[in-house]
Amino acid sequence: MSARYGVLAVLGVGLVGASLHDNGLARTPPMGWNSWNHFGCDVSAKLIRETADAMVASGMRDAGYQYVVIDDCWQVARDRTGRIVADSTRFPGGMKALADYVHSKGLKFGLYTDAGRRTCQGRPGTYGSEEIDARTYAEWGVDYVKEDWCNAQGLDAPTQYAKFRDALLKSGRPIVFSICEWGSNHPWNWAPRTGNLWRTTGDIGDDWASMVSRVDLNSQYALAAGRGPGAWNDPDMLEVGNGGMTDDEYRAHFSLWAIMAAPLIAGNDLRSMSTATRDLLTNKEVIAVDQDSLGAQGMVVEIPGPDRQVWAKPLADSSRAVVLFNRSALQTVITVPWWSLKISGSAKVRDLWAHSDLGSFDDHFSATVPAHGSVMVRITPERAK
Ligand code: GLA
Repeated sequence: MSARYGVLAVLGVGLVGASLHDNGLARTPPMGWNSWNHFGCDVSAKLIRETADAMVASGMRDAGYQYVVIDDCWQVARDRTGRIVADSTRFPGGMKALADYVHSKGLKFGLYTDAGRRTCQGRPGTYGSEEIDARTYAEWGVDYVKEDWCNAQGLDAPTQYAKFRDALLKSGRPIVFSICEWGSNHPWNWAPRTGNLWRTTGDIGDDWASMVSRVDLNSQYALAAGRGPGAWNDPDMLEVGNGGMTDDEYRAHFSLWAIMAAPLIAGNDLRSMSTATRDLLTNKEVIAVDQDSLGAQGMVVEIPGPDRQVWAKPLADSSRAVVLFNRSALQTVITVPWWSLKISGSAKVRDLWAHSDLGSFDDHFSATVPAHGSVMVRITPERAK
């Protein structure tokens, strides 16, 4: 048992008697790209190929991004045998050839479906076709499926998602299972047994208030993410680079997703992103916090004043990642006291955005934090407790 599960067992937070969904995947939060936040229904094979190319050329693949996921609107019908049919105008070569292309770039391929009768955009859903869909996806070489919850009136979410989990397992192909029912059926109670990640919120928008409210919702379920391997809370995909927030706001967005061990699914146009956006998405020290092998979801450990928060996430090497989060519209100084991190004695502090060591501090660390902004550091005790 890892230290993390040991701690949770002591707290009585185990899933005693319940089998965890363990398909061997998503040992750390999944990283990739999804078409929805920027492109909506405007998806095509051309976009997916160019995005895969850009993921490699930008250094995102090397920074850990893996899954290229087509969201809603790729599907148009079912054929006479019940098999799902991709839009042949937008995906002329079919999905298998597209998956092959994505794989040839050293990346993985994902698709979207819906547990109900139709998707949110009215395309055919998976209800009643679970087995044939899972088989088809496996044949195409799909590595990741996101399953939505539109048009599912009268259906039971734990039952429907378990049905598709079983169909995916039966297909014989390892496929990450992303549950997307927006937190409306208390997924933190059952989804760790069913999927690799589950949405805890409704859809994110590309603005500060929306981003912050996803954080507040997702942070309520931090312990659910610690219940087993390959099981993560999902506060929705990233908006970084889509234009609705300032660079400081996007830096806070990315820092908070990393400290919450959230899936890092970029949602911008990778083909034309600015250097600032690329640097934000590929910061290896921040990504390392998200991907840390201990897998703990960081939490608020101190509220030093209105609109100010100190977030901390324990890391495998016994250091702590810390985000000083300024939710206010005025620059301010935020202090993290060592007691809030259960550190005694001196500790070294490293700025993860500036990539610089700030020195050794005895009792606390303070930094000036921009309006709607964050400072993210790694704090390493100098002597073992
Ligand atoms: C829902 C999901 C979104 C996206 C759209 C597509 O709103 O929550 O993430 O998949 O459907 O229609």
